[in-house]
Amino acid sequence: MFEFKTNNNLFLKKNDYCIIIPIFNECKLHQLTKKINDITNNYILKILKKGDLNKKNGNTLLLYNVPNINADRILLVLCGQENKINEKKYENIIKKIINKLIKINEKKFIFLLHYLHVLNKNNYWKIRKTIEIILDETYSFDLLKSKKKTEIKKEIIFYLSQSDEYLTTQNAIKDALAIQESINSVKNLANMPPNICNSSYFFMKSDQLKKKYSTIKLEIIDENMMKKLGMNAYLAVGSGSKNKSLMIIMKYNEKKYEEKKPIILIGKGLTFDSGGISIKPSNHMNEMKYDMSGAAVVYGIMKFLAILKLPIYVIGVLALCENMLSSAAYRPGDIIKTMSKKTVEVLNTDAEGRLVLCDVLTYVSKYNPEIVIDIATLTGACVIALGTYYNGLISNNNQLAKEIINAGKESNDKAWQLPLDEDFNLQLQSNHADISNVGGVPGGTITAGCFLHFFAKKYCWAHLDIAGTAWKTGNNKNSTGRPMKLLAQFLMNRVKNNK
Ligand code: BES
Ligand code: MN
Ligand code: ZN
Repeated sequence: MFEFKTNNNLFLKKNDYCIIIPIFNECKLHQLTKKINDITNNYILKILKKGDLNKKNGNTLLLYNVPNINADRILLVLCGQENKINEKKYENIIKKIINKLIKINEKKFIFLLHYLHVLNKNNYWKIRKTIEIILDETYSFDLLKSKKKTEIKKEIIFYLSQSDEYLTTQNAIKDALAIQESINSVKNLANMPPNICNSSYFFMKSDQLKKKYSTIKLEIIDENMMKKLGMNAYLAVGSGSKNKSLMIIMKYNEKKYEEKKPIILIGKGLTFDSGGISIKPSNHMNEMKYDMSGAAVVYGIMKFLAILKLPIYVIGVLALCENMLSSAAYRPGDIIKTMSKKTVEVLNTDAEGRLVLCDVLTYVSKYNPEIVIDIATLTGACVIALGTYYNGLISNNNQLAKEIINAGKESNDKAWQLPLDEDFNLQLQSNHADISNVGGVPGGTITAGCFLHFFAKKYCWAHLDIAGTAWKTGNNKNSTGRPMKLLAQFLMNRVKNNK
């Protein structure tokens, strides 16, 4: 557990703490460091001149028994050149010192690195970033291990010289903690294995959230209701599994905003995607437990809004089901009538995400939405096109796309827009139905987006393909919680701009 506090004194009363101090190349000192160095009768500078603290930014030197300073320890951190610190450098410095902090047998740390001048970034950003990185880097998923990691108990105390910075700092701490608490639930949900985390598990989690926060309401659409509504594409995908398909609708609303049109977030929630009859190859198939990452992120956003009590109206839809093989499973060749009445020819049962989402996109138009954003681990092609750093983005509204791209930049959870162009629709033509569910290899992410847009023409819509960003594969297998930060930033910006 990390705690984050503020303090107006550089030094604490008791000596059981460590001060974290920035040092620049060639023994140059920050103003605050100069002050401390003076108190030590130039001791810090003398040590630096011996030349042991050098090379890489984020390298550290730990000092004990520093003259005239009551702190047990001082940690010197190399930060490069004073006026050349940008976002990336600041982030890397923080990332690098975390392991050091954990190893130091001290509970309290006076933190000064937010006094570094970071190009174009203010105090709010530096403090929020620091907290987010510390909590991100120390996350681990051991709920299902018999031996849990020993709990870290540390206090990070941000030193504040002027009392007028108090408010921004408190806001930064509040926002960062809300984001991190929700991101941790996203990660815990997404990492949970598919034998535990099915649609009922999601229901249990959402119900707990509703009970905790009066601003959250729940509506459930089960298989029977889906049948009545004609959501046959959604039902087809889940038909091969004994885990029931379930659409959970979470409404977050602070009273005053009831009359406003809602922002709708739809999360793809395949609690496991075997590929169905068009079965996937077996290596890495285990990672298809993450095919519900979109739904996990939408759940996290609802939690985030409730914690921060943001004045906004958001409806989160978790589109849950499981894509399995059985005699009841849907097949390649099936032609399905969707809720929109349009028919789809299934050419590949592994292109199931778009089938689930198309019915949800039709369903949500009844809310007369301001904006609809779907979040989905939709295509392997997106990993090829954009790698693991960028979320794929497709939208029918350029203003909305810009807002999302900017929120991505601000939160370092970036998105890259791909074209939505009618030309691609040719690839989705079917001889026997209105549309087919696959568009071939070329532009696979784009044709998937075009398929979705076929059902989202009536409103302002954006699609985030998070196949490359939602989790880390291989030995470091872990949910990233993305694009939770992007969406949180997007919503915070909307509140700030009173939209
Ligand atoms: N959930 C997968 C996409 C995916 C694959 C995400 C690998 C992350 C890593 C999706 O349901 C899928 O299987 N898509 C197919 C579509 C194809 C059959 C048109 C794909 O990408 O291969
Ligand atoms: Mn699939
Ligand atoms: Zn899938």
